[in-house]
Amino acid sequence: MQLSESKISRIFEFGRSAAKAQSPDEVVKRTFETLKEIGRVDSLRVVYLFDHSVWQEWRMSGKRTSTSQSDTWFEPEKKGTTIYFDSSNTQIGYLTVSPKAASLVTAANMLSPAVWNGLLLQSALRRVQRAAKLETGMVRAALRAREEERLRIARELHDDVGQSMASLKLSLKWAEDVARGRGGLQDVIDELAGSREAVALMIGKVRDLSHTLYPKILDTLGLSAAVKELTLQIGNSSGMEVTCNVTGRERPLQREIGLALYRCCQESINNVLRHANASRLSIEVHYGDREVRLTVEDNGRGFNPRALYDSSGKMMSSGFWTIRQRISDLGGAFSLSTAGGQGTVVEMIVPFSARENNGRRKNKNTNSR
Ligand SMILES: Nc1ncnc2c1ncn2[C@@H]1O[C@H](COP(=O)(O)OP(=O)(O)OP(=O)(O)O)[C@@H](O)[C@H]1O
Ligand SMILES: [Mg+2]
Repeated sequence: MQLSESKISRIFEFGRSAAKAQSPDEVVKRTFETLKEIGRVDSLRVVYLFDHSVWQEWRMSGKRTSTSQSDTWFEPEKKGTTIYFDSSNTQIGYLTVSPKAASLVTAANMLSPAVWNGLLLQSALRRVQRAAKLETGMVRAALRAREEERLRIARELHDDVGQSMASLKLSLKWAEDVARGRGGLQDVIDELAGSREAVALMIGKVRDLSHTLYPKILDTLGLSAAVKELTLQIGNSSGMEVTCNVTGRERPLQREIGLALYRCCQESINNVLRHANASRLSIEVHYGDREVRLTVEDNGRGFNPRALYDSSGKMMSSGFWTIRQRISDLGGAFSLSTAGGQGTVVEMIVPFSARENNGRRKNKNTNSR
């Protein structure tokens, strides 16, 4: 049976549109609509095997549409004409059209490869989405575990090692005083005084380390104070001109928001120290009506943000990847604006009610300046 040119072009058009469908349901719906444009269609039945394990069935007629799933094969029915997607492996799926009119059967034969392709694409997409979700879940769990571990080590260092060293320092002082009281033991006194100073230095280092692992100030004074303290340290040690501004009406944040923004701020500052060769670094914490925004800006060498992605568009670089992950976990948005020679601005926005908004907000695209 020969189809008219317009009907054939409609079938080709279907091939293109099936590839763009947003769901398997849409592929089947478009198939039915296309067939109806070719001739009278009483019913369409499509069966397709997803993930080598579940068969899905769609039944469409003028009056109703139904879908069902099964872990066993849906046998084709006698009524109508059945066209298998893959004649060498019939259980991959098929479509059945009725009535058995010649033009409809010809059209269905021509359409079936595109229907199969459309469904194949949808099942591949599903697999990718599932894998991405699994990966995100694993990363989230790993980030959380890392924070818990850091907190545990920070506490141990501060409360356990720190306390023991403080008592050691006191013992040394006691021994030093006793030796001084007895007189004539100058070399012992000097040795004890030297050891006491060394222990004092070590106490300071342990405190710093514990602080880097988990900044207690976040819990006591909040994000702005913690960020200010961080910038003060950087300003003293880096030689850069560092400024930190807090704007808007400051308010307490959920612990996870404060911690996430602080970690992102640490990573962004580390990036400036390691990669930017900047002379100026400015940080702003802005409290809006509904969200808090943290901006880290430098006047350094900048870079091409495209270098952060691989050919499939996946973000490869781990520092920014973690920032993006942390922020999107809180329903926030992260944006990066940079270009060679023009500095870098990293902006992170998180809604105050992170839990309610979790995942709703999309990350802004990475921009070139
Ligand atoms: N402020 C900046 N100025 C210039 N280049 C930067 C800046 N921040 C990041 N980059 C560039 O972007 C790249 C990716 O940064 P990212 O933080 O993701 O990874 P990294 O710092 O190289 O490694 P990691 O953070 O995992 O230790 C860096 O290697 C650097 O080339
Ligand atoms: Mg980094």
